[in-house]
Amino acid sequence: MVYQNVNDRTAKLINSLRHKEKIRVLFVCLGNICRSPAAEEVMRQTVAEGGEADRWVLDSAGTGGWHVGDLPDRRMRVHALRRGYDLTHICRQVRRADFDDFDMIIGMDAANISDLKSLAPTVEAADKIVSMGEFIDPGMGFDHIPDPYYEGAEGFERVLDLLANATHRLFSAVSR
Ligand code: 4NP
Repeated sequence: MVYQNVNDRTAKLINSLRHKEKIRVLFVCLGNICRSPAAEEVMRQTVAEGGEADRWVLDSAGTGGWHVGDLPDRRMRVHALRRGYDLTHICRQVRRADFDDFDMIIGMDAANISDLKSLAPTVEAADKIVSMGEFIDPGMGFDHIPDPYYEGAEGFERVLDLLANATHRLFSAVSR
């Protein structure tokens, strides 16, 4: 089930992580104020529920730098808090060292993936980049996490629905 949608490269990456003591994941979107800080916190709750809170090191960053130093977007915080996720991440931009510091760098959409690939310093670093869309149940009808920034409430709710699904599938792929 878990491998249903992921490509061969991602399956290989997942296999290499399964026996690791620590798993370090960086979630990346454009602004680092909506999707990726939400992904980080939803994943934190997912791994805690699965009894692996100490095993996972989670962070998020943006490919763009417009909001560096800010808390997540107020709309994202309000929608997330209604589901019990308190978003306190402080926005930061992706940096070169992230490709050393993390095992998996997960982009929310195709533009994030493309931007990350051009930032990756080596081929090995580029192999750490995967799309969150690979973990979404195909039945949900999305192959990426759509940018909610110019959307209404439903855009933010959809992000949280998709992230809840994708984080559970990512967790079950890598958990002990
Ligand atoms: P995010 O959403 O990538 O999910 O954080 C956005 C936040 C800010 C902007 C675009 C998308 N912006 O253009 O400032």
